[in-house]
Amino acid sequence: MNSFEQEIASALEATGTFTADAALKLLSVPPDTTHGNFTIPCFSLAKTMRKAPKIIAEELAAQVKLPSGLSKVEAVNGYLNFFIDRGFLAKSTLDEVSAKGLEYGHAASNGKTVCIDFSSPNIGKELAFHHLRSTMIGNSLSRIYKAAGYKVERINHLGDWGTAFGKLIVMYLRENRPTDQETLDSLTVKELNILYASFSKISKENPGMEDEARAAFTKLEQGDEFYRKLWLAFRAATLKELMRIYDMMGVGFDHYTGESFFEDKIPAILDELREKNLMIKSQDLDVVMLDEFDLNPCLIRKSDGSTLYATRDLAAACYRKAEYNFDKCLYVVDLGQALHFKQVFHVLKKMGREWYKDMYHIPFGVILQMVDGKWEKGKTRTGTASLLRDVIDAAQKKILEFIDAKNPELENKELIAREIGISALTFNDLKNDRVKDVRFDWDAVMSFEGDTGPYVQNAHVRLCSILKKAGYTAALADVDYAQLTDDAAYELIKVLAKKGGKILAACEQDQPSVLAQYALEIAETAHKFIHEDRVLGSAEEKSRLFLVQCAQVVLENVLDLLGLFPIRQM
Ligand code: ARG
Repeated sequence: MNSFEQEIASALEATGTFTADAALKLLSVPPDTTHGNFTIPCFSLAKTMRKAPKIIAEELAAQVKLPSGLSKVEAVNGYLNFFIDRGFLAKSTLDEVSAKGLEYGHAASNGKTVCIDFSSPNIGKELAFHHLRSTMIGNSLSRIYKAAGYKVERINHLGDWGTAFGKLIVMYLRENRPTDQETLDSLTVKELNILYASFSKISKENPGMEDEARAAFTKLEQGDEFYRKLWLAFRAATLKELMRIYDMMGVGFDHYTGESFFEDKIPAILDELREKNLMIKSQDLDVVMLDEFDLNPCLIRKSDGSTLYATRDLAAACYRKAEYNFDKCLYVVDLGQALHFKQVFHVLKKMGREWYKDMYHIPFGVILQMVDGKWEKGKTRTGTASLLRDVIDAAQKKILEFIDAKNPELENKELIAREIGISALTFNDLKNDRVKDVRFDWDAVMSFEGDTGPYVQNAHVRLCSILKKAGYTAALADVDYAQLTDDAAYELIKVLAKKGGKILAACEQDQPSVLAQYALEIAETAHKFIHEDRVLGSAEEKSRLFLVQCAQVVLENVLDLLGLFPIRQM
């Protein structure tokens, strides 16, 4: 609705009383629209204008030329109130929705590129439930940035390098498992999980094994062919399962450039750090000091020559800048890694990479689950964390029970149940400020009432089923906008008109929750409209059907921007 505000401001400027900027500053949008959709309180003007606020408002009301789209202006007790013309709003909004379809509210290309590093799990083991957060926040942000006009590079910075692989190698060989290629090719991530767990258990009694694992990783880093063959097999087995889950969740990436990818790009970084005299020895380590930024030193290299997580992130950042020339680079990673990213960004600054300013850590809180009456954070290593695939299966099962009770004949009900289940998990993750921890309570998350995924899905299903029952698509030519000016229709149209602004706000704040809350707003006003204004069989059927169709299209796209499946029937 920005343009209304702009037009009111220019109309006021034309009265010669104040500038458009000053008018915009005064202008507000009252939540209750009985006294207008926009209002200018004239009290602060009284002093400079040497007149009573009531008089100022009255004079302005008489002078101002009403911009198109507004139906009246009124002076009430020192307030200048503007009313939107409901028919005009209906026409201008719905005609545009109908012309642009799913892309209504999207911005034109801004010529900018954003890299979004998300999901990026450590592989060699299965995805845990907590991986849902980075995966779904990042997935949604990548869709939101695209809709806001950016070119998006979706990057999965797999943790496919590091001591964890040393552990797997040690354990695999300790159990004397066959190492012929055929056996290696048929490895599954489940077996790796078991190996990993065995390592944790056995190494407790054999402390030497940790050293063995580190040595094994160093050997791998140095290019040992046999170890490399094992590593490749472990990596492939995990990737296969990873892709299966991503497919199921509707998540995709443009690049799977994991940590191992940067091995051969690290020497150049080390050379540069040395040349610029940034690296010093501290105990056994090569580090970059960051005292001047009040940060602990950034660890670059261990005494045995092996590199660290931060080193690989330095190489990855430089690679991304060179390869994609990004305007922004986002890291969707939990809050616990805040220090790591500060260190990496500041080392880049010391290296003279001015674009370090364009790197952003996008943190989020943890998922808390109820364990013995207390909210707790699950841990993969202690085995209390649930696997993501188990949570998805359980969600699907819950929704399927619901479908079996209400609509057992539904075609494809397994798939639909899974999509609603995944959407429910996702919505729960996205609905609040991402930095907050997420309390995960099964019954609340899967409920069809309240601030939930199933609730917004259901609103979309209801819109779709009205359209389906009508048996035809509403045509622009049949619409009488005067029939869309009652309160329920007007409230819904006002909400639909906000789409573009919501997309931009979600993008500027890196907050999918802005769109999640917006989806709830659409669902609520759409439910209310359907409830109050009978669509099928009414005298206004064709006009109302057109509004239903526009609401459906807007909601479908908002669900899609959140990474929820826009289900059509349930
Ligand atoms: N693999 C890391 C982890 O699981 C997250 C990687 C995030 N991305 C990055 N470029 N550091 O903790």
